[in-house]
Amino acid sequence: MRDQDQTPYVDALLEFTQSDPGRFNVPGHQGGTGADESLQLLVGQTGLLDDIPALIEGIDVGEPNPFQEAQVLAAEAWGAKRTWFLMNGASQGNQAMCMTVAHMGGEIVVQRNVHSSVIDGMIMAGLKPTFAAPEIDPDLGVAHCLTPDALNDALDRCPDAAAAMIVSPTYFGASANVAALAEVAHARGIPLVADEAWGAHLHFHPSLPQAALDAGADLVISSTHKIVGSLTQSAMIHLGSDRFDGAIVDRCISMTESTSPNSLLCGSLDAARRQAAIYGEAMLTETIRVLAHTREKIKAIPGLDVLDERLLDRESVSGWDPLRLTIDVRGTGASGYRVAALARDLANVNLELASDTVAVAVFGMGTGTPARARRLIDGIAAAVEHLEAEPPATKPEFAPPPPWGEPAMTPREAFLGQQEVVSFSEAEGRISAEPLATYPPGIPNVLPGEILTRETLDFITDSIDHGGYVRGAADRELTTLRVVA
Ligand SMILES: Cc1ncc(COP(=O)(O)O)c(C=O)c1O
Repeated sequence: MRDQDQTPYVDALLEFTQSDPGRFNVPGHQGGTGADESLQLLVGQTGLLDDIPALIEGIDVGEPNPFQEAQVLAAEAWGAKRTWFLMNGASQGNQAMCMTVAHMGGEIVVQRNVHSSVIDGMIMAGLKPTFAAPEIDPDLGVAHCLTPDALNDALDRCPDAAAAMIVSPTYFGASANVAALAEVAHARGIPLVADEAWGAHLHFHPSLPQAALDAGADLVISSTHKIVGSLTQSAMIHLGSDRFDGAIVDRCISMTESTSPNSLLCGSLDAARRQAAIYGEAMLTETIRVLAHTREKIKAIPGLDVLDERLLDRESVSGWDPLRLTIDVRGTGASGYRVAALARDLANVNLELASDTVAVAVFGMGTGTPARARRLIDGIAAAVEHLEAEPPATKPEFAPPPPWGEPAMTPREAFLGQQEVVSFSEAEGRISAEPLATYPPGIPNVLPGEILTRETLDFITDSIDHGGYVRGAADRELTTLRVVA
């Protein structure tokens, strides 16, 4: 095992900069010399000096080079056979994963509430999905995880599946029994892929839900920037077993990545890995302790509750992540959207996600300090106090979440086939040629190849009216939709 205290890639960047190189290569700002003063203000001189292109001797050229060493250190830190740094987020990881699966066969079993990047990946790769329904929480109106039985059932319906794909933990911090799901997939001789975008920290603390790789998942997509503290857009993909061919994964990652990966993003992964490996457990211990106290304080605010270990009563949930502070606002009579908007407007407190029933605050691995917790509690308390002073509002009625129908054709056939543009209001009954995912949380409501129902269209309209937006449609205003001709 190597020394996790090292940061070979960061060191190589700093060394290059300290050598005062003559810069006659890209990027065109050449160490900040040609940067607009606003960019200097934004990124700082150090950031500009360390914005170094690919293929530099001593950084990512030669064998082994610091770029490779940094990824080997990450593989060891997370317990992977091999790890790749991604500069285009877990979204890129999901796209590369779909391409990889397509090398092994054309069909895949997929948890239905996957992130929209998985749908994009299936379009790119031409995969035919069979969906496995997650457990739905009818009270909160959110989807939890997949049960092993639900996965088994979907695999029965798709005997030629090349892989099974799950998402855990969810946006709301519910974690699946990944070990049992891996057993189900492996019993059929196929690999399990886990989108663990929200769980890069799980490996570093014994009281957190078991990390997917540790539970036997074969390929794990990890959005390192979300909780572990690398720069936005940087992520990793971990290979857990020989059920996937590393050379194929490698090829699919190259295909989905720029040939000019950003050195600052990449360096931030090296640094975040060091921090997680060396200090992760201590940081998490403190954050978990502070958040236990924070939950009690939030629960004491009239009308509020929090999601906590009671989540474990759900059949599909075998662990919960305390770093997601999911606030159940139903008792206030207002929506999560309203509470989140008030916290922002009154206290400049910005939350990660809101829905009809909940508002979610996210903490990073080491950001659960008492002062920050206080700021959150005060912001939420101010929002609820404001609600109490308002005349009781009639809470907006939301359309129920749209039913997930069987696809009429594959996502790729619909997305790339003959199509026409119709007005949003006239799209009912047509086969959608584009995915529609209300954000947050970015879970597709419609997939290319699915028939657009009135309920689905109403749900999307409601989400937009309540401050959400929709990703996937060519017409971002959603005046029109592309449908199969
Ligand atoms: C489950 C899941 N997977 C993948 C992604 C995409 O991650 P990124 O923003 O790093 O591309 C997200 C983003 O929210 C997500 O929630």
